This record gives sequence, structure tokens and C-alpha cells, in this order.
Amino acid sequence: MISSQIQLASYLFASILFILSLGGLSSQESAKRGVLYGIIGMVIAIASTVLGDNVEGHVYIIVAIAIASVIGMTVARKVEMTSMPQLVAILHSFVGLAAVLVGFGSYLDPHTQTLTGVDHNIHYVEVYIGIFIGAITFTGSIVAWGKLQGTITSKALLYPGRHIVNLVLLLICIVLAVLFTQSDGTSGILYLYIMTAISLFIGVMLVMAIGGADMPVVVSMLNSYSGWAAAAAGFMLGNDLLIVTGALVGSSGAILSIIMCEAMNRSFWSVIFGGFGTTVSSSSEEISGSVNSMDHEEVSEMLQNAESVVIVPGYGMAVAKAQYPVFEMLEVLRKAGKNVRFGIHPVAGRLPGHMNVLLAEANVPYDIVLEMDEINDDLPETDVVLVIGANDIVNPGAQEDASSPIYGMPVLEVWKSAQVVVMKRSMATGYAGVQNPLFYKENTFMLYGDAKDSVDKINQFIKK
Ligand code: TAP
Repeated sequence: MISSQIQLASYLFASILFILSLGGLSSQESAKRGVLYGIIGMVIAIASTVLGDNVEGHVYIIVAIAIASVIGMTVARKVEMTSMPQLVAILHSFVGLAAVLVGFGSYLDPHTQTLTGVDHNIHYVEVYIGIFIGAITFTGSIVAWGKLQGTITSKALLYPGRHIVNLVLLLICIVLAVLFTQSDGTSGILYLYIMTAISLFIGVMLVMAIGGADMPVVVSMLNSYSGWAAAAAGFMLGNDLLIVTGALVGSSGAILSIIMCEAMNRSFWSVIFGGFGTTVSSSSEEISGSVNSMDHEEVSEMLQNAESVVIVPGYGMAVAKAQYPVFEMLEVLRKAGKNVRFGIHPVAGRLPGHMNVLLAEANVPYDIVLEMDEINDDLPETDVVLVIGANDIVNPGAQEDASSPIYGMPVLEVWKSAQVVVMKRSMATGYAGVQNPLFYKENTFMLYGDAKDSVDKINQFIKK
């Protein structure tokens, strides 16, 4: 067993490791190190908590940790990259449930009943808020998981007056909070039960109101909620480490959501209150002009004549698993002395960092993978841009067509380069469901077909 001073020092050390972990995760080069810091921090945090002198029943705890570790490792090994959002969503639901259970446990703890005055009020508020956020996170995350998994319809469930209903439910929770904090002993348990039921319902309705395709932003938002639920649990338990960790998760989740919302041209507030991204309106501007296309041999000639090439990958590259032949192409072109770089849009694909992970998986060096803001100014001087399975993130309508649903979304200005090749299977729209005027530009050439298949064929020509 360890003394409370050693426990406190371990908590501080673990907090620093968690901060270093988040810092590490912000770039590809340091991401693995960041994960390692996180793992060490978590081992220290759990060990110093379990070895604390106020903890009993170590056998049960160790057995539970062992079983959970086996389940966690099995699931993490099996999960496909494309199913990651579901896994994250379901893990958030556990955090929410834990906060609810800690809340009830803390309320029924005999020590709580001895609190009086300000201590009593503060603790009851902590319990109440912890359960409230935890319950919303719990059911909201389960619905998000169901929508991503396809077990719940991905259509947004909207009914008239739902904002009023949510507001009334919130007001009822506030009234119950006042009654609860004024209650003594365990006499307020009924208020807690009612509030928990309402919060569970709010969690379901908030996420049901959002279309399945917008779930990644919602998952990031729920990540933030789960952090605040953990922080509230930390206050209840008087555990500083949990407060720090919860606040880190809560704020980083919120920042990520804001970044995603800005990159997708969505309002942050409408995400929080639910029901965004439900209408797919289309642009009123007709696109005119003809579409140029090329075959694989012509594209490979174009690449051989180019000095600078920028590759812009999108969701289609992930679907086709084209990152491996893309790496082969990169090697051949670099050997031929071409300046080849990648331009990554913040919401390319369907997950934050989706393209970066795929390219890293295929061994593409980090230093040539640039973010949108880093590469946009270089595009006018670029000979060829290869757009591989991307659509919305290279749509000039986002800048030129005020009636477009994605108007205002920052995009990669690929049309400013000398020549653009777009590899996709058809003229179909992307995620946002809007037409892309890029395909009709004079300097754009379509190369139809599956992205992996197309890159493989180009490789055959350029290797000759
Ligand atoms: P999209 O706009 O969705 O376009 C992807 C394109 O890939 C499609 O038009 C499709 O055209 C093509 N494609 C599909 N399978 C293919 C295959 N096997 N081979 C070749 N092409 C294929 O993707 P994007 O440009 O990456 O933009 C991402 C979109 O997702 C944005 O609207 C963004 O707001 C949204 N979003 C992103 C995130 C995050 S965090 N990344 C989260 C939620 C939503 P064909 O059918 O003609 O082949």
C-alpha cells in the first residue's frame, strides 16, 4: 500500500504524461510516442489508485482488470480502420455509464450523509451534474454506435417541436436539481432517478436527430462529453487525477469538434443541440461545359512530363485501399527526380486524420504529407495534381457558388494548378451530395475506374 503523498506525486506524474501524450498525438512523427506516454500514464494512474490505502477488494479489482484487458486487446486487434468510430463511440458509452454508477455510489456512500452546509450542497451538485452528463453520454454514444454500425437507421429522426421538448426536459432537470440539493440523507433519490431517466432520454433524442453520415463529428462531441463526465466523477471522488484527465479529454474533444465543424462548414452549436446536417440541399447553379477524360497511358505520360506533382487523396482512396500502389507510384516518380507531395484536407475521408493514417500505413514519408494550408499556395506552381477518390474537398463551388451547401468550406484549390487528373468511378457526387464544377474545368481530366485499379495501371506504364 502506498502513502497519500506518493499517490499524489504519482497522480501529478501521470497528469504530465497525459499532457505529453496529447501533445505527441498532434503530429504523425510523435504519435507513437504519444500513445506510449498515455499507456504509461494510465498504468501509473490505475496502480496508484488501486494501491491507495482507502481501497479494498484488490482480488476483485485485479480479476476485473484482467478480464477487461483481454476483451480490450482482442477488440482493438480485430477492429478495421473503417470501424474505428463505432469502437470509440461504444467506449464513450462506458465512460458515461461509469459516471452514472459513480454518482449513485457516491450519493449512497454513508460518508456523504454526514456532510452538512456548503460541503453538502457542493457534493450533491457534483453528483447531480456527473449523473446528468454521464447518462446523456451513455445513451447518446450507444445510439451513435448503432447508427455507425447500421443497427439503427441512419436517417435523422426529427419531430416538430423537439427543441421545445428538449428545453422543457432541461428545465425539469434544473427544478429537480434544486429539490435534490435541498434534500437530506438519501431522501432525494427519487429526484435522481427521474433526472437519470430524463437524461437517458435526452441522450437518445439528441443523437437520433442527427443523420448517420454526420456521426464522426457527434462521436468527437460525445468524446468531449465523456471527458466532462469523468471530470465530474473526479470531483465526486475527490480524485485530482480524474479531474485533470477528464478536463483534458473534455477540452480536446471539444477543440477537435470545432476543427471538424469549421472544416466541414457546419455550425458548432447546431451539433451540440442536435439535428444538424439533416437537409441535403443542392446548389441552384447549373454546371455547364464538357468533361474531358483520359486513359491510364495518357495520365502516365502527363506524370512523366511533370516536374512537380501533388496527390490529393480522399474517401475513395480509402474505399479502394489504393494507398499501397500510390506509394509505389510515389517511389517511381521520386526516383525520376519529380517533386511529389501530398495535400491533405482536414476532413478528407470520414475520420479525423483518416488519410494520414492510410499513408503512414503504406510508408509514405511524413515530410511530404502537407496540410491544406501548407500546400494551397504552392498549387498554382504545380504541374499536375492527382485527385484520388476525393470530391467535396476539391470543389471550387465552395468558393465560387454562394448557393452551394458547402459554400464557405475551405477546400484544396487544385484547379489553380496547370493540370488536374480526377480518379473516380463516375461523375457521382461525394458525401455532401453536391455537383463538382472542377470536373468541367478545361484543365481537368477524369480518369474513370476504381482508384486502386487505376493507380496499378498507371504504375505499369511509368515503370516501363
Ligand atoms: P467525398 O466527397 O465523399 O468523395 C469521395 C469520392 O470517392 C466519391 O465521389 C466517389 O466517387 C469516390 N470513390 C468512392 N469509391 C471509390 C473507389 N473505389 N475508387 C475511386 N473513387 C471512389 O470524399 P472527400 O473528398 O474525401 O471528402 C470528405 C467528405 O466527408 C467531406 O464532405 C467531409 O465534410 C465529409 N466528412 C468528413 C469527416 C472527416 S472527420 N474526415 C467526417 C464526416 C464527414 P465515385 O462514386 O464516382 O467513384
